[in-house]
Amino acid sequence: MAASLDGFIARKDGRVDWMETSDEFADGDTMDPGFVEAFLKTIDCYVMGSRTYETALRFEAQGLGWSYGDKPTFVLTTRDLPRTRDTVEFYSGDLAQFVNGRLRPKFRSIWFVGGGVVSAECLRLGLADEVRYSILPILIGDGIQFFEKLDRDIALHLAEVKAYKSGTVELCYQVRGRCGEPRNAPNHAIIGLVSLGR
Ligand SMILES: NC(=O)c1ccc[n+]([C@@H]2O[C@H](COP(=O)([O-])OP(=O)(O)OC[C@H]3O[C@@H](n4cnc5c(N)ncnc54)[C@H](OP(=O)(O)O)[C@@H]3O)[C@@H](O)[C@H]2O)c1
Repeated sequence: MAASLDGFIARKDGRVDWMETSDEFADGDTMDPGFVEAFLKTIDCYVMGSRTYETALRFEAQGLGWSYGDKPTFVLTTRDLPRTRDTVEFYSGDLAQFVNGRLRPKFRSIWFVGGGVVSAECLRLGLADEVRYSILPILIGDGIQFFEKLDRDIALHLAEVKAYKSGTVELCYQVRGRCGEPRNAPNHAIIGLVSLGR
């Protein structure tokens, strides 16, 4: 996901207007659209919390598009939300059972879009193999945290760092297993952001 330097993924009321930053880092890389497209192809399905889904629907209604293409998109919710396309499926209940029992046997690369509640739930339950964290060049002071109410330490291994001309720094971490080694799952569950409608 993308966060402000002080660790927030949205303002308290859910707004992400601050994500349009205007920095310039001369030594940074340029984001290659071909690379992004190829990377998105490696994702087999998306999982997101209901509030993130509601943001995605709002963006779509504003004409900013649907960022998840025709990939299966699983929305976690206990509510009755509008289902705008066939690729969207709702789930409510035990996230570990859902990911390990239903998703892992079927999908190789599972991308957790967020938000903060789902990211924390996913890490607490030991479901994530990788965390992709982009830091935007801005401080917003308050908001929804990247990992809401994480109740224990999670050891990570820094696997990749990239800095872009836009001033964004992209960090990729592998989640370490209980004994400190990177987990060796045959498939992959990632927490990260596929930009919401841009
Ligand atoms: N900056 C970024 O990269 C980024 C990325 C993603 C999202 N965001 C922003 O983050 C905000 C949303 O984050 P958030 O932490 O408030 O919410 P969230 O994680 O998107 O959604 C949390 C909600 O999902 C449902 N849920 C979670 N686990 C469930 C389970 N096991 N079974 C059934 N339902 C479950 C519950 O809602 P119900 O009440 O529906 O049951 C819960 O309140 C939005 O503003 C979004 O725009 C930003």
